Amino acid sequence: MIDYLKQLEIELTAVGFTTEYNSEHFRLEFLSKKGKITVLFDEFKLLSVEDKKKVGAELNFLKRQAEDIWKLQKEKEESANTSLSSSSFDTTLPVYQLQPGSPHPLKTVENELVSIFSTLGFDLAEGSEIEDDYHNFGALNFAEDHPARDMQDTFFIGEHVLRTHTSSVQVREMEKGKLPLRLVMPGRVYRNEAVSSRSNCFFHQIEGLYIDEGVSFADLKQTLYYFVQQFFGEGTKVRFRASYFPFTEPSAEMDIWAGTDTEENTRLTKGTGWLEVLGCGMVHPNVLESCGIDSKKYTGFAFGMGIDRITMLRYGINDIRDLFINDIRLLNQFKSY
Ligand code: PHE
Repeated sequence: MIDYLKQLEIELTAVGFTTEYNSEHFRLEFLSKKGKITVLFDEFKLLSVEDKKKVGAELNFLKRQAEDIWKLQKEKEESANTSLSSSSFDTTLPVYQLQPGSPHPLKTVENELVSIFSTLGFDLAEGSEIEDDYHNFGALNFAEDHPARDMQDTFFIGEHVLRTHTSSVQVREMEKGKLPLRLVMPGRVYRNEAVSSRSNCFFHQIEGLYIDEGVSFADLKQTLYYFVQQFFGEGTKVRFRASYFPFTEPSAEMDIWAGTDTEENTRLTKGTGWLEVLGCGMVHPNVLESCGIDSKKYTGFAFGMGIDRITMLRYGINDIRDLFINDIRLLNQFKSY
């Protein structure tokens, strides 16, 4: 009997559980009423007192060993079951749909502006947001102590500035010395201004520049007029007002007629119905010369337009800050699919 017990012990410990042979099969084979170990207890009763002494401890040990193996396996099976059934994860559901992003409304408008000007032969250029004083001011005919510098409250980073306008990109492009030039230059600009629903400490502009022989103010007006009809719709009224920028002469600002039909338009236009959309003018000869362009031979025009304002106008957004808080409820309204 001792030998048989040894053999059973080897058998027990070598059991490999599978889905076909689980804890219940094990119990039936070894521990149930007719199980291999249980029946040994019946035989045990028939042994002599002496043999009982020899075998008893071994038999009890074997039984406990079998019970431990059975319990452990049963627990394993139960925890595997509960982890599947207790989680709310339903493996039969269809695959989760990823929500793709979409362009920000400012980018959508910027892309449209770039593409309208590209139909007139304007190429795309970009500059950096950190500039030196010379490219943001000096080369653009802002004298060192000229009060015009105060028109654009500036953020300084040591010797450098955060560009206050995209006109700095004009300078960079003119300095490259390749003419004629016909470019649009979009980008973010920074001004140290009080933040409100109408103005932010950073916003977006698109700069235009056209330099060639014989470019006139008539070309400037016609280009901008064409743009307005394309972007705001056929028949949109515009007006030009004389203005001042150190880097253009003559200078103008262009307004479009937004009307006072809606409360928003009244508010945006401060009740006048006219919305200022850009500054423009003929590039000042001093600027051309600073960039190494012969101002006797070449003339050109430039314009700079705020992208944020026209984005707000187009989509009826009341507060410029809404464009930058990245509230998903707002952004979801601009999905293009
Ligand atoms: N840079 C000017 C501004 O930010 C706009 C402008 C650009 C005016 C080009 C004239 C020519 O206010």
